Amino acid sequence: MLKGLFRKNQEKKESQFDFKDIDPMNVPKHVAIIMDGNGRWAQKKGLPRVAGHRAGVKTIKNIARAANQLNIQVLTLYAFSTENWKRPENEVKFLMELPQEFLIKEMDELMEQNIQVRVMGFVVELPEHTLKAVKEAEELTKNNTGLILNIAMNYGSRNELLHATNQMIQDILDGKLSQEAIDEKKISSYLLTSDFPDPELLIRTSGEQRISNFLLWQLAYSELWFTQVYWPDFSQTLFLKAIYDYQQRTRRFGGL
Ligand code: IPE
Ligand code: IPE
Ligand code: MG
Repeated sequence: MLKGLFRKNQEKKESQFDFKDIDPMNVPKHVAIIMDGNGRWAQKKGLPRVAGHRAGVKTIKNIARAANQLNIQVLTLYAFSTENWKRPENEVKFLMELPQEFLIKEMDELMEQNIQVRVMGFVVELPEHTLKAVKEAEELTKNNTGLILNIAMNYGSRNELLHATNQMIQDILDGKLSQEAIDEKKISSYLLTSDFPDPELLIRTSGEQRISNFLLWQLAYSELWFTQVYWPDFSQTLFLKAIYDYQQRTRRFGGL
């Protein structure tokens, strides 16, 4: 019976996926997304790249809403990497203005949906106005108990690991940590994701199949899911398809 349902769903078009296709008992606690393809989406339409970033913000709203509805605990979105500073100045400037625009405009809905906003990355290097906006959003939503919308801004995983290593050395020198106490759990506790479980599922849009310096440690056993669709066209139904596909997989963690 279940097998039959599975076969039926395999034949389903992506656009037909629905919340009722998801097993509520097997929803990932933490989903991470590399939101990619904004620039190409815009270029395909003959628009400037930044138009793609603006369109991508709408997708964030839709996906956060769906994740909240599914009772996913944490949705980590890669919004700006430590390498993205290499982009043209006008694009970087635009990207740094999006958080304030999004967070101010959407604050009522974020509150209504009980969503908690967090920002993860080397935030002190962000422009002051960006930092102010994200800090304010974190403060306003800190008591919300629904989805944690964790936005990775100026995040890079190697930098995170470097920072964690230095912090551990410092704590040893200060007598707060002993070398014997360093195990995998301890390392995780020094990372920017220390409050969260590792993501069970990583989604990347736009057809690229690489990690691009995202959560290198945390993704050790995550299920990977890719789509050709550019981020501005990523939909709730496609997100549900990703969760559905995740639920059909067998995670083995090296065992049988
Ligand atoms: C993802 O879209 C958003 C950011 C990296 C900020 P891109 O801007 O990378 O779009 P493509 O990959 O060039 O199409
Ligand atoms: C990864 O996308 C970073 C974000 C989505 C924020 P990029 O577009 O920067 O990655 P590469 O350059 O294709 O690897
Ligand atoms: Mg890209």
